[in-house]
Amino acid sequence: MADPVATQTALRIAPLKPGSGFGAEIIGLDIAQANDATLDAVVDAFNRHGALLMRGQKLDPAGLMRFIHRVGTPEGHTIQDFTLSGFPEIYVLSNRVENGRPIGAHNDGVGWHTDYSYKEEPVMSTMLYAVEVPEEGSDTLLADGVAAYNALPPERRAALEKLRLHHSYRHFMETREHQRRTLTPEQIRDNPDVIHPLIRVHPTDGRRALWPSTGTVTEILGQDDPTDLSLLDELVAFMTGEEFVYRHKWQVGDLLMWDNRCTLHTGTLFDDKKYIRTMHRLWVKGDRPY
Ligand code: SIN
Repeated sequence: MADPVATQTALRIAPLKPGSGFGAEIIGLDIAQANDATLDAVVDAFNRHGALLMRGQKLDPAGLMRFIHRVGTPEGHTIQDFTLSGFPEIYVLSNRVENGRPIGAHNDGVGWHTDYSYKEEPVMSTMLYAVEVPEEGSDTLLADGVAAYNALPPERRAALEKLRLHHSYRHFMETREHQRRTLTPEQIRDNPDVIHPLIRVHPTDGRRALWPSTGTVTEILGQDDPTDLSLLDELVAFMTGEEFVYRHKWQVGDLLMWDNRCTLHTGTLFDDKKYIRTMHRLWVKGDRPY
């Protein structure tokens, strides 16, 4: 039988955030042409680095689907309005309007969060593939929850381990700044509130991450007053400080994927009267946080 380590291909890797182990750029990789051993090495790098960038890709929707199936199982989208015709697992983020109608959700990911935190099994990874990008603005920021956790004093970590967060999809959708909407009774039924840990253990190697989020959290369980969210604000501000954040400046053909089990992310605004931004977003199914 083949030795799985020996069959893995060596990737050319550069750090995304020099000086930290967070994030890696895989250089010179054409995902559409990559063989199985190379794609296994990509998945391994993803699990170790928390975020991967692969520039210069030419991936049509079928190519994106082929790639995501190598990483895991694609997750469906809670809101279906902007999925690509024939590809329900590809969601379009865009400010482009065609025939008087938007082709995608605009400013959908602005605000620090981790995707699908309002579900029992939040998505493991988010992939964004850049189709059209503005010349300036619209960067995506990723915050490293492992480095932030490790930077806390041991007694603070121990205190935070005891806390749980109450996440609510309804609260999120009815109070968010962009893409706000009132949920239908079916959407409320299909998205019941969930409780998740504030400190999350990475299933591949046991590393711990700060795992707060904004928008979905209504209570911090384990505090005297669960409705006081000032601790959450403090932790998000800490984790999203410059030392823990990678800022991605987009080029057409970039595929950026990050590990939602140990990161927060946010989109940023841009001059949407002047520029068009279109991204294809895919989610990889995850498991229950612990
Ligand atoms: C997202 O949060 O899903 C998208 C972020 C972005 O558009 O940069």
